[in-house]
Formats: sequence, C-alpha cells, structure tokens
Amino acid sequence: MARAKKAAIIAVANQKGGVAKTTSVASIGAALAELGRRVLLVDLDPQASLTFSLGIDPDAVEVSVNEIVLGQAEVEEALLEAGEGIDLLPATIDLAGAEAQVLTRPGREFILQSALADARADYDVILLDCSPSLGVLTLAALTAATGLIVPMQAEMLSHRGVGQLLDTVKDVKKLLNKKLKVIGILPTMYDGRSNHSREVLEDLGTRYQLPVLSPPIPRTVRFAEAPAAGRSILETARSSKGAAAYREVTEEILAAL
Ligand SMILES: Nc1ncnc2c1ncn2[C@@H]1O[C@H](COP(=O)(O)OP(=O)(O)OP(=O)(O)O)[C@@H](O)[C@H]1O
Ligand SMILES: [Mg+2]
Repeated sequence: MARAKKAAIIAVANQKGGVAKTTSVASIGAALAELGRRVLLVDLDPQASLTFSLGIDPDAVEVSVNEIVLGQAEVEEALLEAGEGIDLLPATIDLAGAEAQVLTRPGREFILQSALADARADYDVILLDCSPSLGVLTLAALTAATGLIVPMQAEMLSHRGVGQLLDTVKDVKKLLNKKLKVIGILPTMYDGRSNHSREVLEDLGTRYQLPVLSPPIPRTVRFAEAPAAGRSILETARSSKGAAAYREVTEEILAAL
C-alpha cells in the first residue's frame, strides 16, 4: 500500500489581536471536515479561545498543548474530539507559563515541528491557531508549518505589524524552515459597502506582493454567536454569507497546498 501523504501544517498568524485568527481556524477547519478531510486544530493561545469556541471548557482540560510543548506528553494523550469531524489539541491558561519555560530551552523553535511529526500521518491538514504575539510559540508554529495564512481586517490601521510578521517569516525561512510558504492574506470582517474597505483590499496584494485569498470574509454578527454555541458558523449558520465565504476560501487553500 502506498504511504499516506503527510498532513499540510498551516499556521494562522498575525500578532495583531482580534483579526479573526481563531474564527478562521474554526471555520476553515469545519469546511475541511465537510469536504471529508481529516483535520487537527491546535490551540497555541493561552487565552484558549479556540478551545472554548469548540465547546470545551479549558479549565476542565487535563492534558493540553502545554504538556506537549514541555515534552511531558504525547499528542495522542491530549487529543480531544471537537465534533464536526475535527480533532483538537486544547490549550489552557497555563500555556503562558509553559511558553516562559520553553523560552530558555535550546531548540525551542522546533518543539512543535517534532511534536507534530508523527501526527502528520493521521491527518490531511493541521491548523495552528497562534496567539496575538510574535513570541516563541508563534515562532515554533512558523517553524513547524508548511503554509501560513495571515488574517487581516480590511482596514488601514490593522496593516501595521504585517511588515514585521513578514520579516519574521523571511528569517524563519532562511534559518529554520525552508518549506514555509505564505499561502496568502485572508481579508476578514469585510464591509463591501464601504469604499474604504474596497480600496484597502485592492492595495493589499500589491503592497505585500502576496496572494490575497478570496472572497473576503464579510463582517456579520453570526460570527459572534457561533462560539457561544460551541460550534463554528458553518454549523450554526450553515447557509450564511460568512459560512459560504469560508467554504470558498477553503477550496482556494486546498488548491494552494
Ligand atoms: N467576519 C466577522 N464578522 C464579525 N465579527 C467577527 C468576524 N470574524 C470574527 N469576528 C469576531 O471578532 C472577534 C475576534 O475574532 P477572533 O477571536 O477570531 O480573533 P483573533 O485574531 O483570534 O483574536 P486574538 O488575537 O485575541 O486571538 C470575535 O468576537 C469574533 O466573534
Ligand atoms: Mg485568537
């Protein structure tokens, strides 16, 4: 029998807070599962928003990503089924402490690459939900990743910091992970009625010389409702414009892998 292909590992990162990293991981993950792909989501944020938004109480989690990055547990010990055909490596608030401990370890950038190496045989796609920082866990995510998606609010102000992220990506590619490919910028919370949003969107791709995934994800209140239900918008509002946009973006991501 032919050997199964290894999972693509996609980091979803932007050190700016609140640009829909977590929402995008949950929604793209759900869209991939709808397409029959085997999906693993990894919560790399001490806020544990992804864990919470998938209906899991971070306070009740016993083995989490914390133990994995500290080398105290294997991936299988922390895996949870998050419904919708998705597996999750949950985070807890203690991840901040674990990150501080990891900071002093040699080879820290490679902790996720090596921790996820075996799991790659069991999934088609592994999505990494980064915290809003360029800290060691985000660096480790970029080092483990084969692809990067940068969610960005379609507003001028949120552009600051993207240059810094892309400089970091350049360094990571040079020093740590030649395989890292920027899949694209994902415009989120897009208000197509505003001329300003449209102009920003047109400017994005040329300014950073990167692909811009499409369609842009529309701003809709449905997204705020989904986490409370412990389900992504693909289930809570199946036929909404937001869910449709994430499904289309997911097809584009698959085509780029
Ligand atoms: N398309 C959208 N329309 C409206 N609200 C949205 C949309 N996408 C996300 N949101 C809301 O914006 C807020 C921030 O989203 P999210 O938590 O996904 O961002 P984040 O980048 O992961 O944040 P952090 O940097 O804190 O990790 C949430 O309340 C979410 O429900
Ligand atoms: Mg988040």
